[in-house]
Amino acid sequence: MHQIQTTAKVIANQKVNDAYYLLTLSAPALAKMVKPGQFIHIRVNEGFEPFFRRPFSVYRAKKGQVQIFFEAVGRGSKLLARKKKNDTLDVLGPLGQPFTMPGKGVQQIVFVAGGIGVAPFMVFSDILKKHKARKMLLYGGRARAHTFSMAEFKKNGVEAFVATDDGSVGVKGRVSELFKNIEVAPFTLIYACGPKPMIAAVASFAKERGLKGEASMEEVMACGLGACLGCSILTTQGYKTVCHDGPVFALDEVIF
Ligand SMILES: Cc1cc2nc3c(=O)[nH]c(=O)nc-3n(C[C@H](O)[C@H](O)[C@H](O)COP(=O)(O)OP(=O)(O)OC[C@H]3O[C@@H](n4cnc5c(N)ncnc54)[C@H](O)[C@@H]3O)c2cc1C
Ligand code: FES
Repeated sequence: MHQIQTTAKVIANQKVNDAYYLLTLSAPALAKMVKPGQFIHIRVNEGFEPFFRRPFSVYRAKKGQVQIFFEAVGRGSKLLARKKKNDTLDVLGPLGQPFTMPGKGVQQIVFVAGGIGVAPFMVFSDILKKHKARKMLLYGGRARAHTFSMAEFKKNGVEAFVATDDGSVGVKGRVSELFKNIEVAPFTLIYACGPKPMIAAVASFAKERGLKGEASMEEVMACGLGACLGCSILTTQGYKTVCHDGPVFALDEVIF
């Protein structure tokens, strides 16, 4: 798949809640190329510390801009959280295989997101705005600090349901509490992104109900291009790289 390396200017870096940031970059060529589920590999610092780029799903891509929605968890993402308007970042992308677009016959589309795993579903819901299927987002955050406004999803015709571990927002419990209760219409497709145990639970739910779907997997990455094999995961077809063969895999393909 074709990709470019570009210098992207920071348009805005907005703190969304105690944990998440929304970074908007000016990257016209990249914005035209991105498909839902693909990611960009960002050099977060000009020097060699940290040495490796950090991967982030594209949250939105339009009007010459690319957005990522990220959580400041460690060295790289904390540096990214400090980026200001007019700073520049070296960005490589778009990388990886996108989600498969649902066919016209699909009646229900369920996005299942754990925490910041929600990121790829915004650009996906932008693209699917006109799709006639009922669209739902089941979002699980740890606590209020990991929740955010669902208004943009709602504008795209997505019904949003929230669960938090402590019940401070929405239903109390894991996101699995939400998907256990969904009405399973025929021709339902599930798309999941989040922590591995959540994806494993979604995959076993889909298997039980005979549903198809895909998951975007996360692994610590180095090259991001399928060369170092550092991000390999076990699948029903042997080891595959998350960066090049994925990050999107069929739900029944990943061995947990
Ligand atoms: C395809 C893909 C898409 C991603 N999209 C997003 C996104 O949209 N928003 C977002 O906030 N994060 C996303 N991530 C995770 C993000 O890449 C990591 O949080 C980031 O690289 C951590 O870098 P750091 O320097 O801040 O943390 P480090 O200091 O390197 O590590 C801090 C902690 O994060 C863990 N970690 C490091 N890299 C990853 C990784 N690649 N995946 C999971 N855990 C990791 C480490 O094991 C450690 O526990 C994505 C990861 C992948 C593989
Ligand atoms: S990060 Fe090198 S092969 Fe995936």
